[in-house]
Amino acid sequence: MARRDFTKFLILTSFAFTTGQLWILAKSWAAPSKQQLPGVQIASVNQLAVGNSLVFAYPGEHDKCVLTRLDSDTFVAYSQACTHLSCAVIPEPEKGRLYCPCHEGAFDIASGNPIAGPPRRPLPRIKLDFQDGAIFAVGVAQPTA
Ligand code: FES
Repeated sequence: MARRDFTKFLILTSFAFTTGQLWILAKSWAAPSKQQLPGVQIASVNQLAVGNSLVFAYPGEHDKCVLTRLDSDTFVAYSQACTHLSCAVIPEPEKGRLYCPCHEGAFDIASGNPIAGPPRRPLPRIKLDFQDGAIFAVGVAQPTA
């Protein structure tokens, strides 16, 4: 390969790399952040007795989550996908946990932190808001542990 061809190759490769980086940057600016997720009504406060749970989808129709009422004033919601290999976790509020039957994993129901089995990361927590007796999912808190 001649020096001139090699120089052309380097310039074209650099141009393609720079264009790719700019494209990624533009997409990240255009995409809504997780902080800007829409609020979606998932239940009414009276619909869920203490110790009961319900499954809902948030933020996408395939993103299964689970809402549990721990006491008269405390509701928690998490992604239902186990952070080990994405099996669906099952709320067991009477045991204070969300249980994953695939590999005997468990998460603390009050915090979402892993307490047993192979999971090492907490479940993503769904942010809740309450208005006029209705419960809304308003965002996804990224796990910090
Ligand atoms: S998928 Fe949940 S413990 Fe393995």
